[in-house]
Amino acid sequence: MNLLTFDSQQKLHESAAGIITGLVQTRPRAVLGLATGGTPVGIYHAMVKSYQRGLVSFRSATTFNLDEYVGLPESHPESYHSYMRNQLFRHIDLPPAQAHIPDGNAADIVAECKRYDRLLEDAGQIDLQLLGLGHNGHIGFNEPAHTLISGTHLVNLQEDTRKANARFFHSIDKVPSRALTMGIGTILKAKTILLVVKGADKAEIVHTALTGPITTQCPASLLQTHPRLVVLLDAEAARLFQ
Ligand code: F6R
Repeated sequence: MNLLTFDSQQKLHESAAGIITGLVQTRPRAVLGLATGGTPVGIYHAMVKSYQRGLVSFRSATTFNLDEYVGLPESHPESYHSYMRNQLFRHIDLPPAQAHIPDGNAADIVAECKRYDRLLEDAGQIDLQLLGLGHNGHIGFNEPAHTLISGTHLVNLQEDTRKANARFFHSIDKVPSRALTMGIGTILKAKTILLVVKGADKAEIVHTALTGPITTQCPASLLQTHPRLVVLLDAEAARLFQ
């Protein structure tokens, strides 16, 4: 594991963006696994800036998002389809057909999970998977549980997760209670994993996940088993590593 700490948000964002754009520069057909939420916003902003400066092109890349809410229209401002369009996709030259997000409105959820896994398989291995970290140790929407699921599947979001995401909605009642998520097996199969964690409120969980027991009760703890894990932390999140 390569753990790096940054004393400013800007350095953290530029560093993460640099790792992603550096990969795309050397491997234009890279397969990127992407995340949503608060953590990647500054990273996507820095990637867009690199693109606008002509330093990188995404026209041959392929992307797979980790997750999407179930039952939220794609056009809803808080759907992950909207998020990705607004934060990244509409600002860069990635062809829309090469950007994949699970369809949380599919009539047949089981078929949708299979379709997503087939697309992932056809694309080969994910070259780089960007991850944020939930307060309960979730990655993607793989919530703490007795057993974890390898492939794409339907999850019931835990109350903690819905509370954390209520900041993006008008109230917790508006946060969907279900989502589709890439499974833990797919995440761990990525060649490189880039875990980004920010804020004092995540100091304890990131420390537990990366130094505590490996357990399905903290899905991110499985990242300890990954041979190429890069962890980027801001100073607040890194507090317990000193
Ligand atoms: C988002 C995702 C989640 C978030 C996590 C942290 O696609 O899969 O695991 O990365 O909930 O969210 P933020 O960054 O909002 O704290």
